[in-house]
Amino acid sequence: MRILVTGGAGYIGSHTVVELINNGYDVVVVDNFSNSKPEVLDRLKEITGKEIKFYELDVCDKDKLREVFDKEDINAVIHFAGYKAVGESVSKPLMYYRNNIDSTLSLLEVMNEYGVKKIVFSSSATVYGDPEELPIRETAKLGTTNPYGSTKLYIEGILKDLYISDNEWSIAVLRYFNPVGAHKSGLIGEDPNGIPNNLMPYIVKVANGELPCLNVFGDDYDTPDGTGVRDYIHITDLANGHIKAIDYVLENTGIDYYNLGTGHGYSVLEMVNTFVEYNKVDVPYKIVERRDGDIAMCYADPEYAYKKLGFKAEYNLSDMVESAYNYVKNNK
Ligand code: WQD
Repeated sequence: MRILVTGGAGYIGSHTVVELINNGYDVVVVDNFSNSKPEVLDRLKEITGKEIKFYELDVCDKDKLREVFDKEDINAVIHFAGYKAVGESVSKPLMYYRNNIDSTLSLLEVMNEYGVKKIVFSSSATVYGDPEELPIRETAKLGTTNPYGSTKLYIEGILKDLYISDNEWSIAVLRYFNPVGAHKSGLIGEDPNGIPNNLMPYIVKVANGELPCLNVFGDDYDTPDGTGVRDYIHITDLANGHIKAIDYVLENTGIDYYNLGTGHGYSVLEMVNTFVEYNKVDVPYKIVERRDGDIAMCYADPEYAYKKLGFKAEYNLSDMVESAYNYVKNNK
């Protein structure tokens, strides 16, 4: 079976390519390197021993996409390509709506032209906004607090309407919680350009001496230690969640939604302390003001993904912090 992976040179995409190949799938990657680097493809070959079929393109470009579908016998698509920085989306909403929605519409139109009607879509727990109850189930109320999250929610709606119009489609919408960590080889990992928005890459840069101190955004939340609580999931677990989803999508039709999380919430300070304990490195931090838009707690009920897809996260917090730091030490 041949899977087209859009954004396959990115953080989640590259880790998913590894697990697809490990599970016997043929893979074709398309990427425009807007948030990734060409050398990731070499690393993927080093990890898997396979030459990665790759086409450099912007997923908005339907003619370029058609060239790929003409040359490659695609059975299904995993769609990662898209901008994903919450803060940037607030300052540049039009760029986010244009890119994330336009690219998805172009992809779906070309898939339809070629009769390829099986897709796994990279959504996000951010579609739940500030949850009314915890843990969060897939049936929870949806509502977003930033343009990035809104692009994901709107695309979920597009996919639902597409399925209603044509029941031959098979669609899995994966709502990620907080992906962290890196492949055990230390050859691929999270490599954000500039000052990281997210907690783990920021901690890693402080541990590595690239940044002086972690700013902990508030310790006055209604949580056990006052700092924000999130459901961190190891990137390799997340990648394996995509394998379970593509296996299912290839054998069925329909549309469904799945939380990919561990079901455990950890606070900022728990993450910092675990990172220090397992990596034996100092991470100086100071408590500062809350970050606009942040919520106190967010963690998944992972039951539905387990019952329907057989997906269950296996790695724990120590695996996450060790692999994240191992990647950076390997790639100084
Ligand atoms: C985690 C916790 C912060 C940085 C975001 C997106 C979400 C998804 C994952 C794409 C919070 C605290 C963080 C720092 C801190 N991305 N923090 N100091 O905000 O839960 O989710 O990334 O799908 O859509 O919203 O992740 O890592 O930014 O924050 O104290 O320098 O760490 O307040 O409690 P978040 P995060």
